[in-house]
Amino acid sequence: MTQQIPSTQTTAPVPLLSLADKASLTSGAGDFVTTAIASAGIPAVTMSDGPHGLRLPKESGDGGQLDLRSTAPATCFPPAVALGSSWDPELARRVAGAIAAEAAAHGVHVVLGPGINIKRSPLCGRNFEYFSEDPLLTAEMGGAMVRGLQDAGVGAALKHYAANNQETDRMRVSADIDERPLREIYLRAFERIVRRERPWSVMAAYNGVNGVPMPENTRLLTDILRTQWGFDGIVMSDWGAVRDRVAALRAGLDLQMPGTGGRGDREIVAAVSAGDLDEAVLDTAVERLARFARRATRAAYTTGGTRAGEHHRLAGEAADRCVVLLKNDTDLLPLDPASGTVAVIGELARTPRYQGAGSSQVTPTRLDTPLDGLLRLAVGARVGFAPGYPLAGVASAGTEQSLAEEAVRLAAASDTVVLFLGLAAQDESEGFDRDHIDLPADQVRLLERIRAVNPRVCVVLSNGGVVRTAPWHTQVPALIEGWLLGQAGGGALARVLFGSVNPSGKLAETIPLRLEDTPSHLSFPGQEGRVRYGEGVFVGYRGYDARGCEVAFPFGHGLSYTRFDYSDLRVDPREDGEAFTVAVTVTNTGDRPGREVVQFYTVGPAGSEVARPPRELRAFASVFLAPGESRAAEVELARTDLAHYSEREGGWRVEGGAHRVEAGASSRDIRLSAEVTVTGDPSRLRLSGRNTLAEWLRHPVGGPLLRDRFARAKGERAEPSAMDDPMLRRFLSGMPLDVISEFPQSPVSPEGVVELAALAAELPQETSG
Ligand code: BGC
Repeated sequence: MTQQIPSTQTTAPVPLLSLADKASLTSGAGDFVTTAIASAGIPAVTMSDGPHGLRLPKESGDGGQLDLRSTAPATCFPPAVALGSSWDPELARRVAGAIAAEAAAHGVHVVLGPGINIKRSPLCGRNFEYFSEDPLLTAEMGGAMVRGLQDAGVGAALKHYAANNQETDRMRVSADIDERPLREIYLRAFERIVRRERPWSVMAAYNGVNGVPMPENTRLLTDILRTQWGFDGIVMSDWGAVRDRVAALRAGLDLQMPGTGGRGDREIVAAVSAGDLDEAVLDTAVERLARFARRATRAAYTTGGTRAGEHHRLAGEAADRCVVLLKNDTDLLPLDPASGTVAVIGELARTPRYQGAGSSQVTPTRLDTPLDGLLRLAVGARVGFAPGYPLAGVASAGTEQSLAEEAVRLAAASDTVVLFLGLAAQDESEGFDRDHIDLPADQVRLLERIRAVNPRVCVVLSNGGVVRTAPWHTQVPALIEGWLLGQAGGGALARVLFGSVNPSGKLAETIPLRLEDTPSHLSFPGQEGRVRYGEGVFVGYRGYDARGCEVAFPFGHGLSYTRFDYSDLRVDPREDGEAFTVAVTVTNTGDRPGREVVQFYTVGPAGSEVARPPRELRAFASVFLAPGESRAAEVELARTDLAHYSEREGGWRVEGGAHRVEAGASSRDIRLSAEVTVTGDPSRLRLSGRNTLAEWLRHPVGGPLLRDRFARAKGERAEPSAMDDPMLRRFLSGMPLDVISEFPQSPVSPEGVVELAALAAELPQETSG
């Protein structure tokens, strides 16, 4: 069993190390290990990928080099694509705790994860490693993983900071993002996790942001991460990301990984010696690295082994919760394990895909297949199997034909068909993006043929990135999204199909009708080294909803074998108005116990000063209910959760007024809504004649002042003012006030505008909108 022995070592100031020694600490001693200086009490830190299990390098015996192709067994938990669909942070915390226990047993101090990049496009080859298209869901799930690791004494490396949203040209591309989407979408999960969970390390991505490579990005690594968010850990580079070691150190990158045989260190020594780099910059990094090394190695572990059986069961329990039931017309599911004949078709039922390829690839301790799971659970039902298609895509046309025919014969002779479809391993991986989201054509052809002989088909999908289900999903009565479920996912799929587990997963990303509908479509993956995030904040459901775009299955969607009714939505503001308790009563009106994930969205005030998505996820909660049982799903929202990032004001800002709070079973199944009046933040905008009439009128101080001036002018002139004519008022609303003030009929003179602006800057603000 794991046992922590508290350290007696305290953090000392930078010891009196030589310049060369200090520089040596800023890069790895090997592929996954940092440099130690025993005389200064600075131990080496061992790291391992991450994120859904350990990729444990085996020593090749060849000069101590690590052989990354063959790795030692570790539990392969559901990758983030699946875990995200559980909407269950507590589960993520437990999974991370188990990964930490395995890490400790193998002497690993830091796990390289979680990966919390936003799924900007379904084409991103690494989407299986990320949680969601939504930053709040990502932050809750990723944050729980950080907590699970670090509470067990193992460090997290939050990655890939920031805006690593594609694999195409990932080592050079600049993600060009306006400040508002950068803050609201791409940095939001990083910010929330850094502030709340205090990760020990952050991994700087390969790509650039707004023209500056992340390893050299002072604004993101220092100004935002450290100064604004208070990050106190170390920043390490992604593997091989550093091009200019001195610039990176200056920008705030403490650790270059992996080691480069001392090249980077020599560059640092040379720069300090030549007076090009202030030694204090190096000292700061060394202090952080020494603290990190002591912190990471502080917990000493003894272990009774890696608990393979226990962790396999946890991987199965987690997978149970990740399966998303997309469709179940005519209640085809669950299947009866006691009677009937079931045709299990598809090579993926026998040779499952359960994780993606690249640095996160784990050698599992065991592997459950869906076919074995179904055979084991069938107590009277007869289960037949036909592979239906080859997986590797290298079979001859003849083989393909005979596999399909065998499957069609089995389908025709069975009561129900469970058809496993999905992507082959070579279709998606770290390192490259997909160029379409379609299933392999031979699989879709097989589906057509099977449907023709037996309409009772349940399709089960295995895929790390979203696949298109249109148009065929309308023609199958049941559809399960099984993602990549980790080493115990086969059993989970069998349990859901036979009903011993009632599915409760919900989509963490939209399944579009067509690739062309995806909000980033026209600007993904960019060209000539730049990718412009032209859709702004309208990522994922925010973008589909804003354009009124039909989708195959919306964000947050997932069915159950029971039904849930929502009633009595309450929004109770706390006395100081800084938080709201939101609660809704959920009733299980079906006949099975089940879990419902209740989603709370908000909608900004009418006439908002910025373009807003129609709704945004702010919180979620799960309830477990027996048939007939009711319970409240309750969350707390902070007033500041409703803020948007104002580029003009250079900060977060809550708009005062009536915001709508919605409770829904998905982003497109909103059951109840209520209004809440929110106190706005004072405007930091300093009004001048260059602000438009509309901006003046919206301003909490400038608005009343200007209205008052108009009223007085009207009284003095006793003739209708331009402001009384709605058409004219609208015409003028986009004009700067200094332009209006020059019109002969203007109710305010140019001098008057200057005077009003000075007054507006002095008076206190009323902020309730
Ligand atoms: C990946 C990281 C990973 C690192 C170490 C990089 O190529 O982007 O996610 O942690 O390699 O394997």
